[in-house]
Amino acid sequence: MSVLLTNIGELVTNDPVHGGTSEPRAGGPGDGLGIVAGAAVVVEAGRIAWTGPASSAPAADEVVDLGGRCVLPGFVDSHSHTVFAGDRSAEFAARMTGEPYTGGGIANTVAATRAASEQALRARGQALVREMLAQGTTTVEIKSGYGQDIATEARMLRIARELTPETTYLGAHTVPAEYAGDRAAYLHLVTGPMLAACAPHARWVDVFCEPAAPTAFDEDESRAVLTAGLRAGLLARVHGNQLSAGPGVRLAVEVGAASVDHCTHLTDADVDALAGSWADGAGTVATLLPAIEFSTRSPYPDARRLLAAGVPVALATDCNPGSGYSSSMPFVVALAVREMRMSPAEALWSATAGGAAALRRDDVGHLRVGARADLTVLDAPSHLYLAYRPGVPLVSQVWKDGARATPPR
Ligand code: NIG
Ligand code: FE
Repeated sequence: MSVLLTNIGELVTNDPVHGGTSEPRAGGPGDGLGIVAGAAVVVEAGRIAWTGPASSAPAADEVVDLGGRCVLPGFVDSHSHTVFAGDRSAEFAARMTGEPYTGGGIANTVAATRAASEQALRARGQALVREMLAQGTTTVEIKSGYGQDIATEARMLRIARELTPETTYLGAHTVPAEYAGDRAAYLHLVTGPMLAACAPHARWVDVFCEPAAPTAFDEDESRAVLTAGLRAGLLARVHGNQLSAGPGVRLAVEVGAASVDHCTHLTDADVDALAGSWADGAGTVATLLPAIEFSTRSPYPDARRLLAAGVPVALATDCNPGSGYSSSMPFVVALAVREMRMSPAEALWSATAGGAAALRRDDVGHLRVGARADLTVLDAPSHLYLAYRPGVPLVSQVWKDGARATPPR
C-alpha cells in the first residue's frame, strides 16, 4: 500500500537530486539540505518511493495532508548510553556549582546497573527510546559499558539489541573498582571472555580512550580493545579527546573507526588526520556531543575548524545519566547552532546524514528514493525553527519504516 504525504511546506531530503548531499566527502556537508518547497513524498513498502513538488505527485492509495508543516529525515542519534539504572542528578547539581567532570561517577551507574533486574533495565531503555522517537529520532545507537562484568555487559547488549540494530560493546568504559590494582587483568577480560560473550549482540566496539581520566584507558590499552573487537568481527568507534588532546582521534583513524566522538580537545594533527582519513573511501567522522559540554559546563568543541578542514561532522546526544542526560536531538541542533556556530543547515545535516555516516548506514539520514521511510514532521514551516524555537516541542509526528510511529498532534 502506498501513502502520499502532501502539503509539506518544506521538505528536507539531503538528496543530490534536489541539490543536497547525503554522502560525506571532503568539503563536508557543503551544498545543503536538498530542500523542496511545497512538496510531497510517497512511501511504499517502508521505503521512500517518490519526492518532489506536490503539484506533480503521483497518485497513492492513501493521502495524508500535512498542512504546510516541515518534514525532515528522522534524526540519527549515533551515540547514546540509554540502558542503565540509577540516578546521578546530584552530580549534575554539583557540577553546576563548580565540580569538574572526571568520569569518576560512572562507577555509581555500574553499581546500580549490576543490581538492577533485567526487566527494570529493559523498561528504562524502552522509555528512553520512546522519548527519543517522540523528539524525532528514528535511528539510535546504544552502548553497553555500565556492567563491566560479563553477565551485565551481555545483558545490557541483549536489551539494547531489542531496541536497535546499532549496538556497541563498551566493556572498556572504565576499569571497575575491583580491578583498580590490576588493570591488565581487566583488559584481559574485556578483550577475551567478555568480548566473546558480547560480540554476538553487538555491531560495534568502543573504548573510552582518555589518559587524562585515571579510570579510563590509555593509547596502548585502547588499541588492544579495538583490535580485539575488530578481530571478533565488530566495527570500531571511539570515545576520544573529551577531557584532553589525547591519542583517541589518532587511534580512531589508525584502526579505521567509523567515528570518534566528543572531539572537544583537538590538535592540528588530529584535524589533519581526520580530514586525511577521507582521501580514499570511508574515513572517520567527528561526532560532536554539545549536550555534554552543556551539562558538564565545559568549552564546546570547535565545529568550524573541523568543517573548514573538510571533516564530516555528526551531532549526537550521548544521552547518559552522568555527563549529560538529554535525549533530544532538537536540543543538540540548537546548541550546535548557538554555541558552536554551525549554520542551521549544517547542524541539521550533521544530525541526520552525518549521524548515518558515523554509523556507516546509507539507508537512513536522507530521503532519497529507496531510503527507509523514516520521517520527522515539525509543527513549523521550516527547519530553521529547530534552533529558532529551542526547548519547544516542535515534533508533531514521526514515521518509521513507512508507518506512523507516534500519534499526530
Ligand atoms: O560519553 N566519556 C565517557 N562516557 C560517557 C559518560 C558516561 C557517564 O558519565 O556515565 C560520555 O560522556
Ligand atoms: Fe558516550
